[in-house]
Amino acid sequence: MRAAVSDLPISLEHVDIRANETAILRDVSLRLTPGPPTVLIGPNGSGKTTLLRVAMGMLAPSAGRVTWGGREGVAPLRRAIVFQRPVMLRRSAAANIEYALASIGAARDEWPRRTLELLALVGLAGLGNRPARKLSGGEQQRLALARALAREPEVLFLDEPTAALDPFSTKAIEDVLRTVAARNVKLVMSTHDLGEARRLANEVMFMHRGRVIETGSGAAFFSNPKTDEARRFLGGELLV
Ligand SMILES: Nc1ncnc2c1ncn2[C@@H]1O[C@H](COP(=O)(O)OP(=O)(O)OP(=O)(O)O)[C@@H](O)[C@H]1O
Ligand SMILES: [Mg+2]
Repeated sequence: MRAAVSDLPISLEHVDIRANETAILRDVSLRLTPGPPTVLIGPNGSGKTTLLRVAMGMLAPSAGRVTWGGREGVAPLRRAIVFQRPVMLRRSAAANIEYALASIGAARDEWPRRTLELLALVGLAGLGNRPARKLSGGEQQRLALARALAREPEVLFLDEPTAALDPFSTKAIEDVLRTVAARNVKLVMSTHDLGEARRLANEVMFMHRGRVIETGSGAAFFSNPKTDEARRFLGGELLV
């Protein structure tokens, strides 16, 4: 059952994140709005994972403000995040999904059907009884996606969701993500796979050294990047 209020748009206003004396995010202002996916790209260490954690509400800004649907401090009931190295419960794959279903208060007699559906959706049909921690890296990434979707989020954050996947599995997961996006779930994902960014991004945010230095449509960004850093990054030259 959907609550009437929405977590969208998510708005960051002049957000800084500092760890000790190091600036990790610097004066980041942006809005994540309903609609097709937003993709974060940028070199290693540019702040993508940190930005996802801030927008999820897991990390409070050192300065600046974050709001969800205009409100501050909104509990992440309608948001889910899939990390690059997901941590699985020491239970079966199916039990990991059931745990998520329980957390949103899904009726217990719905669990088996929903679990099978979700396992099938991410290409893990038949693996429900396997211990989750014994699954391969790519399988765990898919299970993490299923577990996040079990919570029926309005916004789904994904940190390099296909990083551990082979090309065939990558395509399969991209198809799942397209299906999810078509159901009006807002996807916000980071990736190092520029092909994937081109295929999925409606909007691209390009990060460099803790700042979002370019935002635009995927088509415009890839054909005509505005900043020198983005041009060099797309040319494979920009390392940090
Ligand atoms: N808690 C922390 N304490 C100190 N430094 C941190 C902390 N968290 C992140 N950093 C640093 O902040 C920078 C940004 O990290 P982040 O993980 O957000 O980058 P990223 O863009 O996701 O990189 P990658 O592409 O490698 O995943 C990195 O230099 C990282 O070492
Ligand atoms: Mg990262």
